[in-house]
Amino acid sequence: MRSKVRVALIGLGRMGHIHAGNLAARCRTAELAVVADADPGLAAAAGAEFDVPWTADVEEVLGDASVEAVAVATPTATHGDLAVRAARAGKHVFCEKPIALDRPATVRTVEAVAATGVKFQVGFHRRYDPDWVAATRRIHAGEMGEPYLFRTSLRDMRPPPVAYLAGSGGFFVDMTIHDLDTARWMVGEVVEVSSYGSAIADPEIGAIGDIDTALVVLRFESGALGVIDNSRAAGYGYECSTEVVGALATARIDRPQYRHYQWLTPGGATYGINRDFEERYPLAYAEEMEAFARCVRDDTAPAVTGLDALAAFDLATAADLSWRSGRTVPVTPERRDDGVVYAFEGQVTDRPSTA
Ligand SMILES: NC(=O)c1ccc[n+]([C@@H]2O[C@H](COP(=O)([O-])OP(=O)(O)OC[C@H]3O[C@@H](n4cnc5c(N)ncnc54)[C@H](O)[C@@H]3O)[C@@H](O)[C@H]2O)c1
Repeated sequence: MRSKVRVALIGLGRMGHIHAGNLAARCRTAELAVVADADPGLAAAAGAEFDVPWTADVEEVLGDASVEAVAVATPTATHGDLAVRAARAGKHVFCEKPIALDRPATVRTVEAVAATGVKFQVGFHRRYDPDWVAATRRIHAGEMGEPYLFRTSLRDMRPPPVAYLAGSGGFFVDMTIHDLDTARWMVGEVVEVSSYGSAIADPEIGAIGDIDTALVVLRFESGALGVIDNSRAAGYGYECSTEVVGALATARIDRPQYRHYQWLTPGGATYGINRDFEERYPLAYAEEMEAFARCVRDDTAPAVTGLDALAAFDLATAADLSWRSGRTVPVTPERRDDGVVYAFEGQVTDRPSTA
């Protein structure tokens, strides 16, 4: 039997704790080698919970020859530096989205990691969710005919801490980026972005110059249209659902519940609603780690690359520009051998020379 890929987890907050649990218990091809967090208390607690060594010093992880790969789930501003240091230490890298807070840092990271030749997968977990994968395969196989309309909703029950939001890159780069990646993956490249935003649910979010509610309208290269609705504070629960309407069929990925029972009373029924992304995506998060480990083990390319993450970042930046300027932003997808990069007026235009 081949040994499991030994993955170190760096950053043990909301997302890192989920990845650590999956690496420790739900992956066939990976195992959790060590956990690290700048907060030694969190690192020690996770070390005890998952029965693995822990450290507050990332250098220890990078210097450990038995560690083959790292998963980076620290705040976004730290991703680029950690990803590049890990890659230069010969570790394959899984990095949470987005790669960085600005385009130059995103491009530098994509280039620097690519130059080392290690695998680089970015955390767009819907690309590994069995429902999205099944629907997208059928769309790509032509079973839907021409897609006409893309609709997706991503709504948090309640906002993350304001301290998180202040370092997140802003609403579109932190949240809508998932939907923009899904749009490209399911339907194709985009040529126009129009967005509307409001700080209506939480005055603290408005006070840091961010928004909590948004609509984004996309025009795809094919002529199809898309609409994304996002909320940081939907109140009733966490929702992520997608529809693609096409000539021959419509794909609908609805709201599977974490629990599958209803409580029936005279004339009524109640059922539980997912409260957060951990409850909504148990399979997707486990499968993205498993897929990452398989890429390392089998020397294959990840399904979602650094260049995909750059394209989604660019569309998020276009959405941000549209919201701030109140105008539609035309974008130009430029095809290269290794993927697509976007150009639009007002964008900082470094291009990765390798990816
Ligand atoms: N894919 C998804 O569905 C999803 C969901 C939530 C968050 N995220 C992404 O995950 C990342 C982390 O978000 P979060 O909500 O888990 O944040 P968080 O604040 O809950 O956790 C971050 C952790 O990183 C630690 N840390 C900070 N700097 C560090 C460093 N230099 N070295 C080691 N540890 C460090 C902190 O102590 C903290 O424990 C963000 O980039 C976010 O965009 C992705």
